[in-house]
Amino acid sequence: MNIKHQTLGEFIIENQNAFSYSSGELTKLLNGIGLATKIVNQEVNKAGLVDLIGEVGEINVQGESQQKLDLIANKTFIDTLSKREIVCGIASEEEESFISINSQDKNHQNKYVLLIDPLDGSSNIDVNVSVGTIFSIYRRVTPVGTPVTIDDFLQKGRDQIAAGYIIYGSSTMLVFSTGHGVNGFTLNPGLGTFYLSHPNMRQPEDGSIYSVNDANSEFFEQGVNDYLSYCKKSNGQRKPYKARYVGSLVADFHRNLIKGGIYMYPGTVSDKNGKLRLLYECNPIAFLATQAGGEASDGKNSILDIEPTELHQRTPFYTGSINMIEKLHEFLGTK
Ligand code: AHG
Ligand code: MN
Ligand code: MN
Repeated sequence: MNIKHQTLGEFIIENQNAFSYSSGELTKLLNGIGLATKIVNQEVNKAGLVDLIGEVGEINVQGESQQKLDLIANKTFIDTLSKREIVCGIASEEEESFISINSQDKNHQNKYVLLIDPLDGSSNIDVNVSVGTIFSIYRRVTPVGTPVTIDDFLQKGRDQIAAGYIIYGSSTMLVFSTGHGVNGFTLNPGLGTFYLSHPNMRQPEDGSIYSVNDANSEFFEQGVNDYLSYCKKSNGQRKPYKARYVGSLVADFHRNLIKGGIYMYPGTVSDKNGKLRLLYECNPIAFLATQAGGEASDGKNSILDIEPTELHQRTPFYTGSINMIEKLHEFLGTK
């Protein structure tokens, strides 16, 4: 086998100087995420063999049924990062409140907090469809050596230091940005090493894929449905767009990032803020989209400008190719 790509470790060392803050700590954090990913990847890959499929019988803080792999992924990321003293706090979609990691201890100088959706698209595990992990990193706003507070986690998406996702698909990829573009690494499972396979990822400015749970359309606002009709219509210049919706945000976003497209999870009559969580899903994906030349909005404003008020806050979410988001805004009357 001829591997000519750079490894994740080499990439991090080579680009340390480009990290805006304490590079050593961010390096440790990205390496820690890489390690946790490999553990979760093994679990996802053997799920059908060792009784990891199915529900635990518990309902999480989001009111959703927890899957066995949801809990394994949650524990793996929290354990890996807390044991290594890499971050001072973690907030997870699967945990009611944030976790402090020795943040009050004067000897622990860790400055970063991590927010995570440990397993995204968990309803797809049982049917062998791609799932993911989404993460978001901020610098704490409270002083080092004091306990982390909710303020450290309720920061605007624009203040993210880094964000990324892992897709456990036909191959496993880690895609992340530290604010200097987006890079994608593919895991070589035989060697357990990530290689830079997708340097400087750019989202095409236009696309012909739309991704939405169309079954909810009777509850969408008129502007969204008008835009969907536009997507489905041919004209002299083009065929109807392609509908592609896996039901794992990571997988739907990853495809649209590479091929060009738009992902939508609008609010509905009963759930004005839709389903997706601002801090664990929308902000990190929005950070990556904008770093790749795409866009992300709540239908009016950039996702990255929303001032969060609670950990598990939800928001309508639209992300994708910049010209497609602009067209959507025209239909919504928010251009
Ligand atoms: P999670 O598994 O972390 O709860 O996230 C599921 C999310 C997202 O990944 C996906 O795009 C969306 O839920 C699908 O929702 P619908 O089944 O309502 O379309
Ligand atoms: Mn999710
Ligand atoms: Mn999840």
